[in-house]
Amino acid sequence: MKNGPIKDRDILVLGIESSCDETSASVLRNTQLLSNVIANQKVHQSYGGVVPELASRAHLQNIIPVIMAAIDQAGVKKSEINAIAYTRGPGLAGALMVGSSVAKSLSIGWNVPLVEVNHMRAHILAHFIDDNSARKKPSFPFLCLTVSGGHTQLVLVNDFSTFTVIGQTIDDAAGEAFDKCAKLLGLEYPGGPLIDKYAQQGNPNAFVFGKPKVDGLNYSFSGLKTSVMYFLRDEVRKKSDFIKQNLENICASVQHSIVQVLLEKLLLAAEQTGIKQIAIAGGVSANSGLRKTLEETAKQKNLKLFIPPFAYCTDNAAMIAVAGYYMVLEKQFSSLDKEPLARWEI
Ligand code: KG4
Ligand code: ZN
Repeated sequence: MKNGPIKDRDILVLGIESSCDETSASVLRNTQLLSNVIANQKVHQSYGGVVPELASRAHLQNIIPVIMAAIDQAGVKKSEINAIAYTRGPGLAGALMVGSSVAKSLSIGWNVPLVEVNHMRAHILAHFIDDNSARKKPSFPFLCLTVSGGHTQLVLVNDFSTFTVIGQTIDDAAGEAFDKCAKLLGLEYPGGPLIDKYAQQGNPNAFVFGKPKVDGLNYSFSGLKTSVMYFLRDEVRKKSDFIKQNLENICASVQHSIVQVLLEKLLLAAEQTGIKQIAIAGGVSANSGLRKTLEETAKQKNLKLFIPPFAYCTDNAAMIAVAGYYMVLEKQFSSLDKEPLARWEI
């Protein structure tokens, strides 16, 4: 990096995200968003889940145009970029390989430092992206419920680089529970947003599904999926068009069950830690039922709630860039020999 104290200068960070099925690139000036380009991969829709090899191929096709579009939309020149932040993990090995290879190549070609970002940390640090909206940012320490397709974690965040997992799922992630239940209903992947959509017209108390019994701050969602599966099997035997006739009510009830489980442990964590600042992050934090329930509960319990704008809930490179920015400030640079990590603790 050029001379002078880092904190006194503007830093342009290019973020690159390719851990799952979104190819994304973003440019930030410090924490200020200049662009955030996301190419979704429609190819997985009919398979009921992400097909890793197809994801890698789609990343390969999309990644250079997406990066160029992000730089173009940011109104900056390639030569002005000061650092490249990329997702090193966790995620799909082949998908991560594409992003990390491109990030390393650009780092050599442009002679700029590289920063390796943990995707789960980035989901949380998405709260610190500045995009001219009037929202408030959490201050430290705060609790974050990170709910995505692959993870469900309760994280105690002490500063930009100190994250402690105090609870997590022992089987399926919350997003996985949404997607698997959606699949049982014959909905396309990813089913979470579709359950959300149909749930808005349904009665959340129409059907009751078994509640998981897990001690402490951990979660479990595989039992819910099984209970939905047997429930649907029995009802469809009695009436073959049961799902079609009751789709809204089933979706609302499934969503209600997942939200209640998430809420219960989050409140327990707040009680046990005495922390009153609560944040959510990850794809499932886009869920309207979860957002509404949390808003109501936070008011009742006098908690301060932080919900990211929709654009930064699901996978995006702006969160990678903002996480990278804070690492640049700490001079936590990476090297070319770091291989992608399919599994990587927060
Ligand atoms: O964070 P994310 O984009 O990717 C991972 O890192 O996994 O999360 C994707 C997950 C999927 O399971 C998707 O169904 C879920 O987030 N999701 C939703 C909603 N939007 C995305 N689940 C429920 N309601 C939504 N509105
Ligand atoms: Zn994610």
